[in-house]
Amino acid sequence: MENVLLKVDGKIAEVTINRPKALNALNSQTLRELGEVINKLTEDEEIKVVIITGAGEKAFVAGADITEMQSLNAIEGRKLARLAQKVFSAIETMPQIVIAAVNGYALGGGCELAMACDIRFASANAKFGQPEVTLGIIPGFAGTQRLPRLVGRGVAKELIIGGDMINAEEAYRINLANKIYNLEELLPKTREFAEKVLSRGTLAVSFAKTAINNGMNMDTESAYNYEADLFGLCFATEDQKEGMKAFIEKRKAEFKGC
Ligand code: CAA
Repeated sequence: MENVLLKVDGKIAEVTINRPKALNALNSQTLRELGEVINKLTEDEEIKVVIITGAGEKAFVAGADITEMQSLNAIEGRKLARLAQKVFSAIETMPQIVIAAVNGYALGGGCELAMACDIRFASANAKFGQPEVTLGIIPGFAGTQRLPRLVGRGVAKELIIGGDMINAEEAYRINLANKIYNLEELLPKTREFAEKVLSRGTLAVSFAKTAINNGMNMDTESAYNYEADLFGLCFATEDQKEGMKAFIEKRKAEFKGC
């Protein structure tokens, strides 16, 4: 792969978008490579947490590749949007927990990629935004859908219609960023959180992700029922038995993820 790097360390995979000369902008090749990596990781039962970040110290991802997009026709534009939407949906729905380590600009498609992840940790120099209207287009990698669900309709409209960038503090204030760290601390702190996730019952963690994601798209009564189904399913796992036994025995649980 040319534009996406994959590093595996035990149960944690680190995916790096690697086009630093173009501030890691997502051209169609990079999107396809990212899709391949995500599909591979989805099937890998050894991997429990995925970290997505950008190469270099300036950008997470500065958006879809404007050079590639400028000559697209309507059909090609739609095709590009569908390609990215599918890759990002695969990230959102994969069983592993996905953390975006946003190490700089997360604009347009970059902000949309970060939003497809479960959690966003940002460096203090990070900048978020959906500047598409400044280019005469709208967000097309599901930004018009994920942003209002994350930060509310009014703030999402302000960001998308205004097209301005916001800094990490503002992203934190509106719940777009979960935490802010100094750039040099970003990856160590992200890995620390990933390790914490590994120490939990990883099946339960995965069920919780699924319950939240799928439940948000249901009416409340169906969502409660769905939660109860997954809650019930936890009692079919060894992790539930170990977790509760360890509590009673006043020791740390040793989960096996089964
Ligand atoms: N696509 C293609 N190339 C990009 C790019 C992008 N999105 N963002 C940056 N680059 C390239 C620049 O063209 C430049 O290349 P050259 O050195 O060959 O000229 C290189 O990366 C460095 O960028 P700058 O010189 O512009 O760096 P800067 O520090 O002056 O500015 C920036 C940084 C503010 C992020 C600026 O690069 C910028 O505004 N980039 C575009 C951001 C943007 O509009 N993103 C949204 C794209 S549309 C989209 O994503 C649609 C969608 O919903 C999917």
